[in-house]
Amino acid sequence: MSNIPSDKAVLVTCGLPYANGKAHVGHLRTYIPADIFVRSLKKNSQETTFVCGSDTHGTPIVVNAEELGITPKELVQKYHVHFEEVFKKMGVRFDAFGTTDDDTNHKRTLQIVEKLIEEGYLYPKTIEIAYCPKCDRFLPDRYVAGTCPHCGEKARGDECDQGCGKHLEPGELKEPVCTICRGPAEYKEQEHFFFKLSGFKDFLLEHLENLGGTLNARNYALGWVKQELTDWCITRNLEWGVKFPGHDDLVVYVWVDAPIGYMAFTEQWAEATGGDWEKFWKGDCPIIHFIGGDIIYHHCIFWPAMLKGADYSQPSAVVASGMLKIEDKTFSKTRGYVVWVEEDYLDHGFHPDLLRYYLVSYTSHTKEVNFSWKIFQDKINTELVGVFGNFLYRNLLFAYKNFGVIPEGDIDPEVIEKINSTIEDVIRANAEYEFKKAADTAMALASYGNSYFQSNEPWKLIKEDKDACGRVVKNCIQIAKALVLLFEPMIPVSMEVAWKQIGMDSDIHTATYKEATIHVVSGTALVQPEILFTKIEDDKIEEMTKISSKRVKTAMAKEAGIKEEVKMEFKEEIEYDDFAKLDIRVGKIISAEKVKKSKKLLRLLVDIGDEEPRQVVAGLAEYYEPDEMIGKTVNVLVNLKPVKLCGVESQGMLLAADAGERVSLLTTDKEMSPGSCIR
Ligand code: 2FM
Ligand code: ZN
Repeated sequence: MSNIPSDKAVLVTCGLPYANGKAHVGHLRTYIPADIFVRSLKKNSQETTFVCGSDTHGTPIVVNAEELGITPKELVQKYHVHFEEVFKKMGVRFDAFGTTDDDTNHKRTLQIVEKLIEEGYLYPKTIEIAYCPKCDRFLPDRYVAGTCPHCGEKARGDECDQGCGKHLEPGELKEPVCTICRGPAEYKEQEHFFFKLSGFKDFLLEHLENLGGTLNARNYALGWVKQELTDWCITRNLEWGVKFPGHDDLVVYVWVDAPIGYMAFTEQWAEATGGDWEKFWKGDCPIIHFIGGDIIYHHCIFWPAMLKGADYSQPSAVVASGMLKIEDKTFSKTRGYVVWVEEDYLDHGFHPDLLRYYLVSYTSHTKEVNFSWKIFQDKINTELVGVFGNFLYRNLLFAYKNFGVIPEGDIDPEVIEKINSTIEDVIRANAEYEFKKAADTAMALASYGNSYFQSNEPWKLIKEDKDACGRVVKNCIQIAKALVLLFEPMIPVSMEVAWKQIGMDSDIHTATYKEATIHVVSGTALVQPEILFTKIEDDKIEEMTKISSKRVKTAMAKEAGIKEEVKMEFKEEIEYDDFAKLDIRVGKIISAEKVKKSKKLLRLLVDIGDEEPRQVVAGLAEYYEPDEMIGKTVNVLVNLKPVKLCGVESQGMLLAADAGERVSLLTTDKEMSPGSCIR
């Protein structure tokens, strides 16, 4: 359902990624269509601001940082940078990308919480909180596991993740267990603060009736509001987060300060550009949230109620994407059904645009997308290569070879009409959040271009009537121009190149749909076109499929407690003398750094009891951070002939156990001085 008035600026946001792990294709399921939507709005001359940022608080982040022995700040910084980089590489172009730990967000959250207190929407209540007597600490959210009171399945403190999916309030979980020490937890009384969600029922019913976006979001939320609305406990016993005013031992629940991030990032954008953030959050310029289908409750119920209570404008649309499957299996990191954006896709040389096209054109936005390497190959080869790429290349090559410039000739009214109706349909489809329909409509214009070329037979005309041939070619270039504009939101990097190929020297990213029917200029020089999309070969897909199945196998084995990849083919027998030739010594790592331009190599200095430390280059960068290497006791083969790896000399080798996915350095089980012999 569309409710975007064209005369008002629009704010588009995307669900904030937790800065707690790497980006995978599941994330892109929401970000890519959102980016396409924003680019299409901009192409339609709609003033649009697109903000997002890292979600940095909450117990999973604290738990993870604790396990890694680093601070939550260090952890979120690392992943914040990672997400920023991945988005850039994938062409997702935010106008602001902050973090919820930024000062702006702390301040805005505090202001909202204080306003809610002032308006009487927050109240204190003594409740039972899980507490671990052994660890002597309260156990918020993920620090406690147990049984769901609604369905009886295993659940964690804040959510029944394996059963009914319900949000759980502190104290609700049955048979609580501490997730740190695995010991039994007990419930202890403590004062916490609650948000009076139950008082917003009438407001929410009306709000949801008028909410735009996709129907899955609105209907799901309406169902909840009609059933029950319980007040939300919005404080947690944690150090990391936004402090609850007047209570130093409490922070606000992550689902309070995370969506407030949307507002804070708009403020940051306004500050950087001189823009006005209040026209969205205090005025009537529309706010559109793109989210994953699993966080509808938070965005359609909790968030608008909080905004209303604090006297801010509410979102006008919530667009919820369907889930992602990997090779027809439910997405699961632990079970290995995951495709990491960098290591499984970009690092294998795949162009970002291909994945963008796949994700948006696979199915309608609210339906499930199945990521399969085979389907990926088919779609790219038949549609991008076979239809669109084919049209651009054959037409531009023919034009370049036979004319060298855009030839003279009139543009067919039928061609203009076709372009206009395609643009109208694409704009309508986007406004209805039907991105697949928009992609298919644009692709249909490419098919039309192919038929136009084919049926006019310019290769015959060139011999018989060069002027008539020039007309056909010029019309084809006009169609190409419209196509490049229509495809830019979907595949922006390739369209940058295509724009130049048709002789345009402006910036395709700021060009608008209106330009599509402005006639291409005869006499404009053409360059020899390059092929934009090449066929993905079967070998490549086989290689990728193998990587995926190996990941699944390893994950399954891990789950079943079986050893990872154990190589069972033993090597041939040797004499003791063969072994005795190896001079293996105990070493201590003094320094470690990544080797420039290499993903795999670390340059290490190792004290092996000699006067000078040894420089060893080891292929361990994928398994160890340089910092964690320092101080480790290792086993070094010191009489291996030196070799240069990536230009750096390696004077030895570290011994390690290799199980494919995991690698572990060999060490000594007692403290031994560097230089001790290993026999
Ligand atoms: O579910 C998630 O991944 C959350 N990090 C989304 C937060 S969106 C918003 F409300 F901040
Ligand atoms: Zn404990």
